[in-house]
Amino acid sequence: MAELKINRQILSLPGRGLVVGALLLVAAGAVFFAADGARAGIFNTKHNLGSTGLNAASQFSGTREICVFCHTPHGGNEAAAVPLWNRTLDPNGFQTYDQMGTTTLDAHVEQIGSVSLACLSCHDGTQAMDSLLNEPGSGRVFPGFSGGIWSGQAASVGGRIGPPGVITNLGKDLTNDHPVGIQYAGGGYSASNPSGPGADKDFNQANTAVVGSERVWWVNTPVEGSLAFEKTDMKLYTRIGTRGRYAGEPQPYVECASCHDPHVDYNPTFLRIDPKGSAVCLTCHAK
Ligand code: HEC
Ligand code: HEC
Ligand code: HEC
Ligand code: HEC
Repeated sequence: MAELKINRQILSLPGRGLVVGALLLVAAGAVFFAADGARAGIFNTKHNLGSTGLNAASQFSGTREICVFCHTPHGGNEAAAVPLWNRTLDPNGFQTYDQMGTTTLDAHVEQIGSVSLACLSCHDGTQAMDSLLNEPGSGRVFPGFSGGIWSGQAASVGGRIGPPGVITNLGKDLTNDHPVGIQYAGGGYSASNPSGPGADKDFNQANTAVVGSERVWWVNTPVEGSLAFEKTDMKLYTRIGTRGRYAGEPQPYVECASCHDPHVDYNPTFLRIDPKGSAVCLTCHAK
């Protein structure tokens, strides 16, 4: 599966990310295994927080590792909805979109969770980015957040994602952000009714499949031309609904990573597809 992904990335990328990545690797004098699809994508992005990163404001000098800021091969956070997650999650204190009192909203909004909570472990601006469960190297397990091992440039902003007011720091108030933890299409899709239709007709039809033992949903884009799920489709995240007609059942939700894939360098701002013509918005909204 990983190999398929790599091939897809190379094909859709005409080599740009790989070439730039390779040049940088040479410049850094580093010996890397450059055939890693995820790294070929993420190396050249703002999500490379190691010393080879491009973004001086959020670069840690203490390691050349990239994945470690989010994943660990051992001792991952089991409470996280993300594989082998290397960070602490704090679901408390968020204000969600529905708390704004908009009258046009159909869907139920759940507590901040799923993959969005993982994104917000950096993007709410409250946690230092080098607060990891398992730091790089040997034996550095859970240092008790005693300042971490790094004191690179990031220390100048407290190791956090940027000062409040900078847009990448979304903060805890999410009422001015596109809703997350929100049912797709106002509800209507569930494990017992997987093909919907959605209650709100202003949304395009979601696709569905059973992967392993889990029911999953996504909204297809024309990028790959296939009806199966691709990373260039808008991924919906399965959560157990707490309210409405299908309460208690798995249902599709919109989360941060529905629109963004945190590993890719082929679109601006980690978007799953090129946003020109508002293609991102129009994938879901039938407007
Ligand atoms: C900035 C945080 C971040 C970094 C850095 C990061 N990841 Fe991820 N990764 C995530 C998140 C969030 C998800 C869940 C995304 C989803 O549900 O599609 C994920 C999911 C994955 C998955 C499973 C889903 C998939 O897309 O295949 C793999 C495999 C993965 N990451 C590998 C890597 C590797 C390898 C690296 C380093 C080269 C890396 N990641 C770096 C945040 C990160
Ligand atoms: C380990 C910390 C960390 C995690 C986890 C993380 N990010 Fe980021 N992200 C960053 C940093 C650092 C930047 C660069 C900040 C800046 O330039 O102000 C960034 C930038 C971004 C940007 C702007 C990119 C640009 O080109 O301007 C987007 C979009 C983004 N992240 C989305 C996400 C999403 C979605 C997730 C979860 C799937 C996520 N991030 C998880 C640290 C993180
Ligand atoms: C419905 C789709 C969607 C969802 C859900 C979403 N985003 Fe975004 N996000 C976008 C788009 C589109 C942009 C690019 C906006 C632009 O180019 O003006 C963006 C931009 C960003 C940026 C960069 C802002 C900048 O101007 O530098 C960050 C950081 C970001 N998103 C983080 C997140 C996080 C964290 C979440 C979850 C809490 C999230 N996004 C949920 C669509 C989404
Ligand atoms: C992954 C699917 C998806 C994508 C992509 C998406 N949206 Fe949404 N959006 C939703 C859902 C679901 C809602 C909740 C609607 C409801 O229940 O009334 C929503 C709500 C909204 C609302 C608030 C509606 C209200 O009544 O308060 C606005 C505005 C909006 N989206 C604009 C956008 C824009 C602009 C983009 C592109 C940057 C975008 N959306 C991309 C799924 C999506």
